Amino acid sequence: MEKGTNITVFIRRYDPEKDSAPRQQQYTLQVERGLTVLDGLHIIKQTQDPTINFRFSCRMGVCGSCGMMINGVPGLACNTQILDVATTALTLAPLPNFNIIRDLVADLVPMFDVIKGLQPYIQRSDVEEMENPTMEYFQTPHQLEEFLQFTYCIKCGSCMAACPTMATDREYLGPAPLTQAYRYNIDSRDDAGDERKELVSGSHGIFNCHYAGECSNVCPKGVDPARAIQLMKKNLVLSYFGLAKHKCAHVHKKPDKSSWKPKIAAPPFTV
Ligand code: FES
Repeated sequence: MEKGTNITVFIRRYDPEKDSAPRQQQYTLQVERGLTVLDGLHIIKQTQDPTINFRFSCRMGVCGSCGMMINGVPGLACNTQILDVATTALTLAPLPNFNIIRDLVADLVPMFDVIKGLQPYIQRSDVEEMENPTMEYFQTPHQLEEFLQFTYCIKCGSCMAACPTMATDREYLGPAPLTQAYRYNIDSRDDAGDERKELVSGSHGIFNCHYAGECSNVCPKGVDPARAIQLMKKNLVLSYFGLAKHKCAHVHKKPDKSSWKPKIAAPPFTV
């Protein structure tokens, strides 16, 4: 496509306080290589229609606030170049499976509430040691590798929007919260796996996942929630039969480094 080509942008407009149903509004936008969907929205807002609502913060794929449907696929507006996804027409809509606050802004609070309820933080029985540490919790590179990719989730809601189970059951916990539960369950420093396993195995819980895998396909950060969910299902079954292996890491005394000397002596300091 030539530099500066015009494309038609269709934006879903909806104000729950004024409109009885969503409507589509059409704009023309001149695009060139490098222009992101978020840049395009800013241009339309500044030059054509100041009433459009969308959400953003970091503009660099980190905060997760600009998630929306871009030509029918959930993604980040700031991380998607228009010419990578559209040649003549671009359709923008809010993330499905969430209530709409206005226009392209979906209400992600229910997802955050579920994540909070699944206790996404390290918990241990040695509370005193956690609060006033005297030693270290060692973790091997392999133990870190087991959960590292799941820490990259930015809670943008793209996986929730793509999930067919979410579409039919709004009470389903959803791929983002379940991934966070798994991330902490397999952290070798954590001791609250049994409690979280109880929380995720209810009637709207993890076994409602049908493994469509769309959550992993659309994740803009390359996280694989479908894998986390399947591995957690496996761990739940193993725990049921008393075969689960997770053991909480013990504390290790910090090595005394006071007598350590550098192998090569530092050159004398001269002014
Ligand atoms: Fe932060 Fe897009 S604005 S992820």
